[in-house]
Amino acid sequence: MKNQIVLIIDFGGQYNQLIARRVREHKIYCEVKSYKTPIEEIRAMYPNGIIFTGGPNSVYLDNSPQIDKEIFELGIPILGICYGAQFMAYSLGGKIEKANESAAAEFGRTDCTFDTGSLIFKGLKEKSVVWMSHNDHIATLPDGFRAVCHSNKCPYGAIENPQKKFYATQFHPEVNHTEQGFDMLGNFLYNVCGCTGDWTMEGYAQTAIREIREKVGDGKALLALSGGVDSSVACKLLANAIGSQLTCIFVDHGLMRKNEGDEVEAAFAGSGVNFVRVNAGERFLGKLKGVTEPEAKRKIIGEEFIRVFEEEAKKIGKVDFLVQGTIYPDVIESGTGDAAVIKSHHNVGGLPDLVDFKEIIEPLRALFKDEVRALGIALGLDEKLVWRQPFPGPGLAIRIIGEITPGKIAILQDADAIFREEIAKARLERDINQYFAVLTNMRSVGVMGDGRTYDYTLALRGVSTTDFMTADFSRIPYDVLETVSTRIVNEVGHINRIVYDITSKPPATIEWE
Ligand code: XMP
Repeated sequence: MKNQIVLIIDFGGQYNQLIARRVREHKIYCEVKSYKTPIEEIRAMYPNGIIFTGGPNSVYLDNSPQIDKEIFELGIPILGICYGAQFMAYSLGGKIEKANESAAAEFGRTDCTFDTGSLIFKGLKEKSVVWMSHNDHIATLPDGFRAVCHSNKCPYGAIENPQKKFYATQFHPEVNHTEQGFDMLGNFLYNVCGCTGDWTMEGYAQTAIREIREKVGDGKALLALSGGVDSSVACKLLANAIGSQLTCIFVDHGLMRKNEGDEVEAAFAGSGVNFVRVNAGERFLGKLKGVTEPEAKRKIIGEEFIRVFEEEAKKIGKVDFLVQGTIYPDVIESGTGDAAVIKSHHNVGGLPDLVDFKEIIEPLRALFKDEVRALGIALGLDEKLVWRQPFPGPGLAIRIIGEITPGKIAILQDADAIFREEIAKARLERDINQYFAVLTNMRSVGVMGDGRTYDYTLALRGVSTTDFMTADFSRIPYDVLETVSTRIVNEVGHINRIVYDITSKPPATIEWE
């Protein structure tokens, strides 16, 4: 059965993905579509509702993004947010003005009063804080509309035309700073669009498994398994769908965290798929000998990874399908939307060119990270793998500053394992989005027992972030840091000093190299 669907029309705002995530959190399937999408395509998707995103432009500029006005004739409920609100008001005959003409520009937290008689504010508190970020504002309402929210400066914080099911908010309900924003979106989706919340990962798994079986038939599929969340969940899904028709190749470059290679093997080796683990640690170390420059390390590892994979894939011969763990943020960021392309992706960079295959399968292409995790749980994947924090492709190589040696890898693996153990004991593992140890190349003087030491400084890093593009350092309690520090210097050799990294991103990055 087809899921209900909400379309998010992307006008280039910075929170577009966030809107989509919020809708999914309400258990409603949604897709982000460019404002250039033809109206026939939108109609053919039978959306239950439409959301217009914000955007950096002014509606009265010649090149401002505009969707075909016919969208207002489809009889589908629409919620406009910020630029989307202005676009709706402007298109339907209202007036938008530059805020400096009437001093109504607002940025940041703003107190607002709501008319709880409106379906989108039903059941909410009459007064609360919202997040505003606009230069322009709605100055005159289109016919049929009325104001249902105002702030001191802004008479039209939100407007509605309930007959047509059009709603618009000048503020951003999707950001956490808008206190009741999540419920406002829920009200729009459930009360106005009539959605019922039919998007669940159990349902998704059933449909995906059926579709994969139909597509693959008795063909063969190949997957590069990194042990990260995405490739692990993709592997489990494919294993459930086609079992031994899937071969997954796990290239262990010897730069994994402590015991990680064995954990990945344990999770998949007996799961009915053909599991190939390539222990290539020595080969990678050989290539990395004497290399200290971070970009050189990354390049060597990337190229060598592809070589090893290619050699293994050749042994299998022609496969019909190559499975990739692409997820929805990759799809949005790679430019289907109108937000700027933020980074190019390197999930399994380069693989399609060197494997002889007919078609690509991307079974997670519609999912956000939290949904991938929920799917993993629904499929019965080990929680340890599901909640594994992000780990960079080049592994510990970019957490060892300077030359990489087997001795340094062992030191870092042991120290990092202690850090992770203590964070788990303190029940902080789901609060800190990424945390790890870095072996610096600096040595300093210390004293242990009665003797002088001259050993390495280890750095600990913990960050909180939602998108990994910006991050704040985590406020890990001192007593937890103290336990970690004491344990590491006592249990791991060659470390006599431990520091905690208190820089955010920017200006620092999350990884040290
Ligand atoms: P930075 O250091 O750029 O990291 O702030 C942002 C996020 O990306 C991860 N990262 C990588 N992931 N291959 C990956 O698959 C890489 O080469 C790579 N470099 C950084 C990093 O761990 C963090 O989550």
